[in-house]
Amino acid sequence: MNYNWGIMACGHIASRFAEGLASTGKEFIKAVASRSENKAKAFAAKFDIKKAYGDYQSLANDPEIDIVYIASPHPMHHENALLCLRNGKHVLCEKPLTVNAKQAKELIDTAREKQLFLMEAIWTRFLPVMVQVRSWLTDGIIGEPRLIRAGFNFRANELDPNSRLFNPSLGGGALLDVGIYPIMFASMVFGDSPTEIQSLASKAPTGVDYQSAYLFQYKNGAIASLSSGFESSGTMDAMIVGTEGEIRIPVFWKGSKAIITKPGGDFEEYAFPYRSSGLQYQAVHMMECLEQGLLESPVMPLDESLSLQQTMDTIRDKWGLKYPFED
Ligand SMILES: NC(=O)c1ccc[n+]([C@@H]2O[C@H](COP(=O)([O-])OP(=O)(O)OC[C@H]3O[C@@H](n4cnc5c(N)ncnc54)[C@H](OP(=O)(O)O)[C@@H]3O)[C@@H](O)[C@H]2O)c1
Repeated sequence: MNYNWGIMACGHIASRFAEGLASTGKEFIKAVASRSENKAKAFAAKFDIKKAYGDYQSLANDPEIDIVYIASPHPMHHENALLCLRNGKHVLCEKPLTVNAKQAKELIDTAREKQLFLMEAIWTRFLPVMVQVRSWLTDGIIGEPRLIRAGFNFRANELDPNSRLFNPSLGGGALLDVGIYPIMFASMVFGDSPTEIQSLASKAPTGVDYQSAYLFQYKNGAIASLSSGFESSGTMDAMIVGTEGEIRIPVFWKGSKAIITKPGGDFEEYAFPYRSSGLQYQAVHMMECLEQGLLESPVMPLDESLSLQQTMDTIRDKWGLKYPFED
């Protein structure tokens, strides 16, 4: 595989991504861009990247770059991804793809019109444990999945109103930041969007969701009971309960093992260790898709990303949570 990557925005997750991609043993990353030239240079020096740009446009213009990984805060994904797509780059964009379905649709339409690859960087879906879980489900190892319980709850160190987690102008709130993981998980297992959505949230002083729980039902009657929050610290397990047993994935969003429990209580544990940060699997998948001439991932399809955004829009509507940059 011979693709040249650029990284747009040099924050926390960009470092984890660069670490992961470097663990493949190939120097895929050829350029990095930050709003600050010094920051870009420091990032480039740390990861041995040859080009460092002090603005995002220069990266989008760079003819050597095939794929841009976007690692800015959620409200910037739309603008940053459009910039890349309009300059002919394939895009791997951090989760959530955008802040709402309207923005997601525009990105998806643009990528399809320009025949460019776009994928939401839901790295969890590409971890070895998730690949195995999908295979178990296909083989019917727990019968028919009927119930999912999953949550992503951690306690934020401080309630900083300016941080990405709490600032409404930066798309703050737990739903968009971490709620997308259990929602993505339910979507992966049931292969469908919910027909019924119920939800309750408690708000942080900045007005964004501090913690919330949501209950989905699907047209076949299956149910998902999900939660996300920055207020309390939980186990972050995901459980798929089927007609003939249960699969549990501890700390599912970065899962490395799974436990299958059969009716009666006998259980077996399976380990799926992975290398480095684990963020490289999604990138390798994207390059394999491109090698095969695909312009969309069959593992994380764009219509599913749009559906995730629609679900989160519905939940936010129920809470009356609108961001300052939304109409
Ligand atoms: N996959 C995962 O496990 C995972 C984990 C954490 C976060 N994420 C996602 O990745 C994205 C970034 O999260 P992060 O934790 O890396 O955030 P972060 O550390 O705050 O970094 C975000 C970067 O975006 C750039 N940026 C552009 N406009 C900005 C603005 N107006 N305010 C602040 N920063 C701005 C900055 O880079 P420059 O100054 O270099 O331009 C900043 O360093 C989010 O969408 C989040 O959902 C994913």
